[in-house]
Amino acid sequence: MCKIIAIANQKGGVGKTTTAINLGIGLTNKGNRVLLVDLDPQGNATQGLGFDADCLDTTISTILRKIINKDYAFTHDFGILRHEEGLDLMPANIELSVLETEIISLFFGREKILKTYLDMIRTEYDYILIDCMPSLNLIAINALVAADEVIIPLHAQYYSVRGLEQLLQTISSVRSNGLNETLSIAGILYTCVNDRTTSFRDVQKILKDAYGANVKIYDNYIPRSVKAEEAPSYGKSIYEYDLSGKVSCAYGKFTDEFLTMHTGR
Ligand SMILES: Nc1ncnc2c1ncn2[C@@H]1O[C@H](COP(=O)(O)OP(=O)(O)OP(=O)(O)O)[C@@H](O)[C@H]1O
Ligand SMILES: [Mg+2]
Repeated sequence: MCKIIAIANQKGGVGKTTTAINLGIGLTNKGNRVLLVDLDPQGNATQGLGFDADCLDTTISTILRKIINKDYAFTHDFGILRHEEGLDLMPANIELSVLETEIISLFFGREKILKTYLDMIRTEYDYILIDCMPSLNLIAINALVAADEVIIPLHAQYYSVRGLEQLLQTISSVRSNGLNETLSIAGILYTCVNDRTTSFRDVQKILKDAYGANVKIYDNYIPRSVKAEEAPSYGKSIYEYDLSGKVSCAYGKFTDEFLTMHTGR
């Protein structure tokens, strides 16, 4: 059964897109059918997978507009691009910002537009990953309403802890307001880690003490490496760009940990 996973944190630059791409291709490499939905007008997942976001006629905005207009006469693969490493992508570009201003004025169902679309196509996939924008706006709420679970990438810095509290409160509100009562947190993933610093160990302890009893914090974390920064400019996953590197190894182990939680294997 397909699981829809939102990769979310309203803080910018914490590794959401990098995690969406490399978990997505990690899951693909293990034989899963995976769709990555770029839900960020920056179009970073689209570009990081080698597509020119600004030249695309059909993006997630096109689809969401069709859903708003109740125009459901499109095929399941409409607008979906196939990356050479086997991952499917629903791309995004700046048009999504325009759409956000339009859906704010909708009277009914404005939080459920993405869910309506993903519920139509979820039978085609084992996993659908949503790369969220760094915001808690209506588009991001659409992701939380559509998702079964949330992965929260986090920089292990003191400033991140406050932002996390806000995000957890938003997730809790989505549940308690009946928008998605079964939404759960898959886990918190530390990214861009320099594990030789004491601040990483301090933040690990603070978060474990504060949230560890209720929220899964993944055992595996992603180290900082220049190779991870370089891979998107080649349109490749870290596995293809630097297979024997430490970030490739870390995303591989994280993918295994994620799968073990989901499948028990
Ligand atoms: N493990 C890593 N080591 C080094 N650089 C990294 C690592 N992970 C991500 N980066 C780099 O950090 C920057 C931010 O990463 P990314 O785009 O994944 O974050 P994001 O949370 O999606 O950002 P935004 O909030 O803008 O969408 C990018 O330049 C990316 O290449
Ligand atoms: Mg991003």
